Amino acid sequence: MSFKVTSLFSGCGGMDLGALGGFEYQGKHFEAHNTEIVFSSDIDKYAVDIYNNNFNHKSILGDIRELKDEIPKHDILIGGFPCQSFSIVAQNPPRLGYKNDTGKLFFEMVDVLKKIKPSVFIAENVKGILSANKKQAFPLIINAFEEAGYYCCSEILNASKYGIPQKRERVFIIGFRDKNAFDSFCFPKENEEVIPLKKVIFSECSIDEKYYFSEKAVQGMLKNKEKMNKGRAQNINEPCNTITAHLSKASLNSVDPVLFINDKYRRFTPREAARIQSFPDDFEFNTSDTRAFKAIGNAVPPVLMWNVMNNIIKALSDCKYIKNSAA
Ligand SMILES: C[S@@+](CC[C@H](N)C(=O)[O-])C[C@H]1O[C@@H](n2cnc3c(N)ncnc32)[C@H](O)[C@@H]1O
Repeated sequence: MSFKVTSLFSGCGGMDLGALGGFEYQGKHFEAHNTEIVFSSDIDKYAVDIYNNNFNHKSILGDIRELKDEIPKHDILIGGFPCQSFSIVAQNPPRLGYKNDTGKLFFEMVDVLKKIKPSVFIAENVKGILSANKKQAFPLIINAFEEAGYYCCSEILNASKYGIPQKRERVFIIGFRDKNAFDSFCFPKENEEVIPLKKVIFSECSIDEKYYFSEKAVQGMLKNKEKMNKGRAQNINEPCNTITAHLSKASLNSVDPVLFINDKYRRFTPREAARIQSFPDDFEFNTSDTRAFKAIGNAVPPVLMWNVMNNIIKALSDCKYIKNSAA
């Protein structure tokens, strides 16, 4: 019998792919977890289209506040709840943390936990959540999860320590209903091996002209470089800086990572961005570059999630977990 998973805010499915396993990345096989997704949804049509193109089960398009009653019984709830209002990148308008509607969406996860009582939940968000609302937002969120009946722990995980060529740091909050399972759980151990960016980018001769910045853009950036600390050309011998949903708008005057190779500046291609996020090459993004970049940049790296889910399943098995009534 498999663990039934519900996925909220599923986007194009980075977190979901990691929760399921059964994929290849950079010559490594990430074996299938004993899981199945029984409910998945997102409000973004284009992300849902990508999702539905890649999984056998379907993600439902809609606002979770209106779909909650359709959620079936499950064992594990997962969700990278929207982060815009917690992100330090998003200073304009200023961070509102839990005080705006988007920032309150984690309560949707809390409501599901109260109603369905799955054994475990996994929530993911940006590091800015720790400092949002003068550091008041995070304890409030943890408190809400605890009041729903969960023993909670949290950790900042850096994707580059898990075989992913990106220095992406994200907060994972994990909660168990069962104290023994909670005590058996530990966050995944970091790898020794670091994957440099050069392992996942394509050779310049295969890159379409449209990904290169114009001479005018380069000159403008060079003129302002000292003053503006812009032009974030990446060292390809190291993991890449964090890529975000803004990648579609990457310019030489933004903070988004770009490449400087053979004396030319360029953006990443969507496939390179997908690899930087640890999506397997057979995960399809049959859409415009803008939509693909948004979905990819928003995603939880599948390999990172795979590692987290692996330890969750170990913890449940270690304490001879007996599944709840979802079976
Ligand atoms: C950080 S992204 C999640 C990415 C996803 N976990 C992945 O790994 O690919 C947050 C998602 O929440 C979705 N979202 C925002 N508001 C929503 C709402 N009211 N109902 C459902 N989904 C919503 C966004 O469209 C976005 O895809």
